[in-house]
Amino acid sequence: MTMTPQGKPAAASLPDNIRALRDAILGQNPMHRSFMTAALANVTPEEMGHLDRYIDFCRQRGLTIAYLADCYLTIVGDTLREQIYFQKNKKYRYSSFAQVADNVYFNEEYMSFYMYGLAITSFLWPNHLALFRFFRDMLPKDKKGAYLEIGPGHGYFLLTAMQRSAYSSFTGVDISETSIAQTRALLEHFGGGKKGFELLCMDFLDSKLPENGFDAIVMGEVLEHVEQPEHFLKQIARLAKKDAYIFVTTCINAPAVDHIYLFSSPEQLEKLFSDCGLKIRNQLIKPYEGKSLEESLQQLLAINVAYVLERK
Ligand SMILES: C[S@@+](CC[C@H](N)C(=O)[O-])C[C@H]1O[C@@H](n2cnc3c(N)ncnc32)[C@H](O)[C@@H]1O
Repeated sequence: MTMTPQGKPAAASLPDNIRALRDAILGQNPMHRSFMTAALANVTPEEMGHLDRYIDFCRQRGLTIAYLADCYLTIVGDTLREQIYFQKNKKYRYSSFAQVADNVYFNEEYMSFYMYGLAITSFLWPNHLALFRFFRDMLPKDKKGAYLEIGPGHGYFLLTAMQRSAYSSFTGVDISETSIAQTRALLEHFGGGKKGFELLCMDFLDSKLPENGFDAIVMGEVLEHVEQPEHFLKQIARLAKKDAYIFVTTCINAPAVDHIYLFSSPEQLEKLFSDCGLKIRNQLIKPYEGKSLEESLQQLLAINVAYVLERK
């Protein structure tokens, strides 16, 4: 593989799947070229390998590169539209679960697009990749016991936990049948079944999971999708064992078709953690690309955040 001076694979040596996906995306949206070039330069050779195998998985499910390009561009287009709305109105377009649920979580066609697209942004968007790297690096590698993930969606974080940690049982809870099916297919494809997993299709707040029952609880990009995030955080504090590893990501001023709860600052979120019985052990605050945190807050630009938490 040809390498750049930074030790990254040169564009000419991109794996075939990734080159084909890039070309299909740029064929439909040539304006995305400079973003895509920078995005690919930010992906390490190891991550390229993971994305390549993820695209293989999709192709073995009968999905074409053109379909995956559509998935990715659907997220790009929808996010841009919502950003314009947000900058004009200073609020997200929707504020209740009922307003978005049928069009997103319970719409199989859209949700499939959305989750495949989101998995691809986990590699290509620098903010999403930063959250994924933080998750991968912070994940305890030698702790044992029960791992719970709320809203696995495309399943890539759950798969990574199964592959890289020593937890022995894995439970995923998601309100969308489409997310559950996509996660199940991913885990089965990559042999996650060897460790054993259970996937439950239900609202996390209705789940009858055991109190003090989990050694690890992960919830990526869910808090901004719910009407009352405090209920989710209190439920996490109830289900976690005293010394459990807790990992939560969310976003601030980051509109999307199904974001209904607007967080306006890291401080607001951090107070909520504390009010819900959780304390912060580690954090990643990722301002808008090319801006400082202050500029992002002032200009209402998207900030991504990830926290390692524990029970108080
Ligand atoms: C944006 S995706 C996040 C996927 C993945 N965790 C990530 O970080 O990229 C949000 C997921 O949360 C699920 N979700 C939303 N509300 C939920 C609820 N009340 N209970 C369980 N899952 C929920 C959605 O169906 C979707 O699969």
